[in-house]
Amino acid sequence: MNILFVVSQQQDWPADIPGVTVIPAQTYLMDPAYGDTNTATKVFNLCNTYRYQSQGYYVSLLAEARGHQPVPDVQAMKDLQSETLVQDISEKLGDLIECSFARTADDFVDLNLYFGHDADQHHQPLSEQLFKLLRTPVLHARFERANAHWHLCSIFAGSVRDIPPHQQPCATQAAIDYLKEQKIRSNAPPSKKPSLAILHDPQRKESPSNPEALKKFLEAAELLGMHAELITPKEARHVTSFDALFIRDTTNVNHYTYQLSRQAIDAGMVVIDDPDSILRCTNKIYLNELLARHHIPTPETMVVHKGNVEQIVSTLGLPCILKQPDGAFSAGVMKIESEQELLTKVNELLKESELVLAQEYLPTDFDWRIGVLDQRPLFVCKYYMAPGHWQIIKHEHQRMSEGRTEALSVGEAPDDVVRIAVQAANLMGDGFYGVDLKQVGVQCYVIEINDNPNVDAGNEDAVLSDALYREVMGVFRKRIDARKGSVLP
Ligand SMILES: Nc1ncnc2c1ncn2[C@@H]1O[C@H](COP(=O)(O)OP(=O)(O)O)[C@@H](O)[C@H]1O
Ligand SMILES: [Mg+2]
Repeated sequence: MNILFVVSQQQDWPADIPGVTVIPAQTYLMDPAYGDTNTATKVFNLCNTYRYQSQGYYVSLLAEARGHQPVPDVQAMKDLQSETLVQDISEKLGDLIECSFARTADDFVDLNLYFGHDADQHHQPLSEQLFKLLRTPVLHARFERANAHWHLCSIFAGSVRDIPPHQQPCATQAAIDYLKEQKIRSNAPPSKKPSLAILHDPQRKESPSNPEALKKFLEAAELLGMHAELITPKEARHVTSFDALFIRDTTNVNHYTYQLSRQAIDAGMVVIDDPDSILRCTNKIYLNELLARHHIPTPETMVVHKGNVEQIVSTLGLPCILKQPDGAFSAGVMKIESEQELLTKVNELLKESELVLAQEYLPTDFDWRIGVLDQRPLFVCKYYMAPGHWQIIKHEHQRMSEGRTEALSVGEAPDDVVRIAVQAANLMGDGFYGVDLKQVGVQCYVIEINDNPNVDAGNEDAVLSDALYREVMGVFRKRIDARKGSVLP
């Protein structure tokens, strides 16, 4: 197993540890040697910040795409930014916190934690639990006494660069100790009835399923012996009383849908869309890395950063395409006609994200959309471009127009299109995906893998009709049954 300590600057990590390679983030992100490794690799992300779309964020995101094991992973980074973090930890560790400080005379205590070790060595069990929950190498926490009780006041990720010299030996030793440890835990609380919550937001105009499709999902669930209910975002906190969750609100990683999906998974539920799929599908940098790594054909693509902007035109020509990593509904995908326009747009995008994508421009009359569920093709559509436009959605004066949809049977689509789509979707997981491809001559190129694909009555179901809804519900039923079976004593 390769062990990498990835740091913002080479000199940030204070000591040599046998078996550990320390490298700067820029090298990890850009040097193909790190993208191509097939060896199991654990990546300790010790960058200065894990802020969304910072270098530190991309280290963990791309580590996941490369099949490496990042610490922290992107989920842990998100947890650290959660508004309810302090409250969540207090709920989970309240007794331990109380117990840990029972003999403390002071009214507050600051803990510096390195790989789960308390630098002052007074609060080891608590430190281990905090590390287990947050999976972040450097943490700073403050605890206070109020009304005769101890509380967590704040906790945040720290930077290895700021470890004071007298604590550096402790941090190094903690890293060594941690590297020796193995921690595996799995939880699968039992559930009783095959019940399914279908989450949708009636307030939203753009929804992955129209009301008619939602009705058909409910009917199909009943037909398969399940009890299904529509729940709205307001009712979402009751979600764990169900066996399964089907998300039919538009997902995003910075959104309650992601939190809820994670919460449902943590509660042992069957979930489509699962949180990892949401996370992976909603960042195009991740997607690009994953597809490249598995040799799935895509339009020629460059990962753009501040240092290689001038190579875009010579590599891709003009017009070319620029993509904001976390855009959706075509809104963050731009066609660039001139060098001047390129500079303006690239600089705008690089203000928001350390990395953005540039792609060769491949115009086609339609995008293939292959719906993949449970690692198999489920439906096929052609999504035509919006009238007079090069994308399937056209945004103009706050209006949105769309091209038409034509459903086909799976057998009618070219074999290559279906095969590559399934291969691509399987890289994401075994949930429900909409893979978009362009076909130019005999070549096909994956444009995107979407989690939470649209299923609208009258569009995607035009060939399969009610069978489409039954197929989706059938996968839920099968997985719920399997889960219940697996928890029998
Ligand atoms: N390289 C490309 N060449 C031509 N059109 C593209 C290219 N990449 C994306 N598009 C078009 O732009 C639209 C949105 O692209 P996509 O990458 O799927 O982003 P989004 O997440 O916004 O849907 C689609 O209509 C797609 O066909
Ligand atoms: Mg798309």
